[in-house]
Amino acid sequence: MPDADKSVIVLFEEQHRQDVIALWKKCGLVRAWNDPDKDIDRCLNVDASRLFVLMKDQTVIGSVMTGYDGHRGAVYYLSVDPAHQGGGYGRKLMQQCEDYLTGLSCPKINLFVRKDNDAVHRFYGEMDYALETSAAFGKRLIPDD
Ligand SMILES: CC(C)(COP(=O)(O)OP(=O)(O)OC[C@H]1O[C@@H](n2cnc3c(N)ncnc32)[C@H](O)[C@@H]1OP(=O)(O)O)[C@@H](O)C(=O)NCCC(=O)NCCS
Repeated sequence: MPDADKSVIVLFEEQHRQDVIALWKKCGLVRAWNDPDKDIDRCLNVDASRLFVLMKDQTVIGSVMTGYDGHRGAVYYLSVDPAHQGGGYGRKLMQQCEDYLTGLSCPKINLFVRKDNDAVHRFYGEMDYALETSAAFGKRLIPDD
């Protein structure tokens, strides 16, 4: 049985908050301009958004945030504890997002990966995601810092 089969994905509950934030920090996903507490609260306050938590032996070992804006689906904060990487957990979390978004009739996922994150580029290639040519523009509306 693959290692990932012994894990379970649950919806985020308040009891997970500190472990999820610690995981994001351990995985290098927290930026000074993004307050993780606020990001969790915002996710919880939007109907079509979900924060999934991957548990193994009652321990948080992974997480992913996803949502649908009525045109495209998004995926953020995909993270697997470094001690558990390479065991199929990232694939399992992405499948959860895809199943959730497909259930909402979302036709396509767009996601962002930092340009220098070669390992994650390869991971998404394995997940059948294609690197697209359009540039991503962003404008901050509410500063966190
Ligand atoms: C990206 C991440 C979630 C992958 O999780 P994971 O549990 O290690 O991934 P999996 O074990 O499910 O790997 C799935 C496939 O991707 C490939 N893959 C995973 N990491 C890889 C890497 N660093 N280099 C090359 N291929 C990789 C695996 O070979 C695997 O293929 P296989 O199923 O044919 O063996 C994890 O590395 C992570 O948390 N990284 C830090 C946080 C991060 O950068 N998140 C992405 C933000 S955009």
